[in-house]
Amino acid sequence: MSLAVIILAAGKGVRMNSQLPKVLHPILKKPMLHYVLETAQKMEPEKIVLVLGYDSELVKEEVSDYPVETVIQEPQLGTGHAVLCCEDSFRDFSGDILILSGDVPAISFFSLREFTDSHVKNGVDLSLMSTLVEEPDGYGRVLRNADGEVLRVVEDKDATADEKKENEINAGVYCVNSSFLWESLGGLSSENSQGEYYLPGIVDLCVSRKRRLLAFSLADPKEVSGVNSREQLGEAEKTMRQAINRRHMENGVTIEDPETTYISDSVSIGRDTTVCPNTYIYGETSIGEGCRIGPSVYIEDSRIGNNVEIRFSSYLTGCEVENGVVMGPFCHLRPEARIKDGAKIGNFVEIKKSEIGVGSKVPHLSYVGDADIGDGVNIGAGTITCNYDGVNKHRTVVEDRAFIGSDTMLVAPIRVGKDATTAAGSTITKDVSPGALAIERAGQKEITGWAERKGVKKRRS
Ligand code: UD1
Ligand code: CA
Repeated sequence: MSLAVIILAAGKGVRMNSQLPKVLHPILKKPMLHYVLETAQKMEPEKIVLVLGYDSELVKEEVSDYPVETVIQEPQLGTGHAVLCCEDSFRDFSGDILILSGDVPAISFFSLREFTDSHVKNGVDLSLMSTLVEEPDGYGRVLRNADGEVLRVVEDKDATADEKKENEINAGVYCVNSSFLWESLGGLSSENSQGEYYLPGIVDLCVSRKRRLLAFSLADPKEVSGVNSREQLGEAEKTMRQAINRRHMENGVTIEDPETTYISDSVSIGRDTTVCPNTYIYGETSIGEGCRIGPSVYIEDSRIGNNVEIRFSSYLTGCEVENGVVMGPFCHLRPEARIKDGAKIGNFVEIKKSEIGVGSKVPHLSYVGDADIGDGVNIGAGTITCNYDGVNKHRTVVEDRAFIGSDTMLVAPIRVGKDATTAAGSTITKDVSPGALAIERAGQKEITGWAERKGVKKRRS
């Protein structure tokens, strides 16, 4: 049977108390909705229809990389009405429709697969995902008769005190045979405390119309935690973070303190790498095997090779680090920094849009921007590539085995040839020939007896 997906994401999310539409609130630096979209994509549906409403233009922009069809629900008259708005998109579709909520981001592909498989296997018209929770406040409760058969879902705001005690909740995930869906939506009423067309109303209709209904109980309630408030956003983040950390640990990564380690779901980490406490690894980042990262390191959108050591308080974005590199503590690698095999980047070093060659060293207090540094180069402490003249950026080239003395100013555009040396404290404005020493200093003068004349000894003691 073919499958299509509808994702509900039209609501503002009033309880978030935010300008930003709820489904765009980030979890581990990625909008909540992207998780739902990616999980939906893994189901390989015929199509995904996304229902938008509040600030739909902004949400549309944020999902432009995903193969989705969007439908606008205006005004937003409830979850049932939201699904009804999709009817035109399904004129030629007769399979099953999986309905997901944009604010239930932690649902796993594995659970969804089980859910739809059970739906197909049992040949039902409607499958409702439910789960047992200790604190059901805010959720719709699943009500059953004495024989344990599902009767209906009652929303928290409409529930009696007795019904509120029920701790089987509606997860907000449904799989519905499309012909039953479209015929039942027309039967929803808005006579309830919120005056909305509730999607769970199709459960009552399934029962009263004697169609086949199945409640699929999910074992782990954390997967279906809804995000309605900032507090729940924090809880969802924690659940997802723990699941990601667990996956890496299963893959052979040591995470010294999972409580303070933040890794996005798109990150890959090789075996026998150790991630030390208070470390953040975000975006499209890959880390090889046998590395040691942290403590207190931030890495985003970067490629890190094998056996790399990134020490305390280093900050890396959009860069590439090859095998065996050692860096930090306190270094800042900005986009397009490329550190080649075995290089060493020390403390208080900033590197931008530059390549540092094989085995080269930038050990202390330097700024290297728009530079091509060859292999086996040593950049002395306090060296700066003066890459910006106030209007344009210029490149610095330092060829293999050159030795840049401490506190050299390399005024770009400039080239320092192979095996050349610059003397400490020089401001280098002209190219340096291979093998030469470039020295740019005023001659040192000495004024004898100066201390005595000035009475320095007395003043300093
Ligand atoms: C909903 C369910 C509740 C379930 C809970 C699970 C209803 C009426 N209630 O409650 O039974 O326990 O989810 O998390 O469905 N949306 C629209 N258009 C609308 C209203 C909402 O697209 O007119 C979207 C929202 O953007 C959100 C999703 O539907 O992504 C759920 O809406 P929300 O208001 O959060 O419903 P809950 O009160 O959480
Ligand atoms: Ca919700």
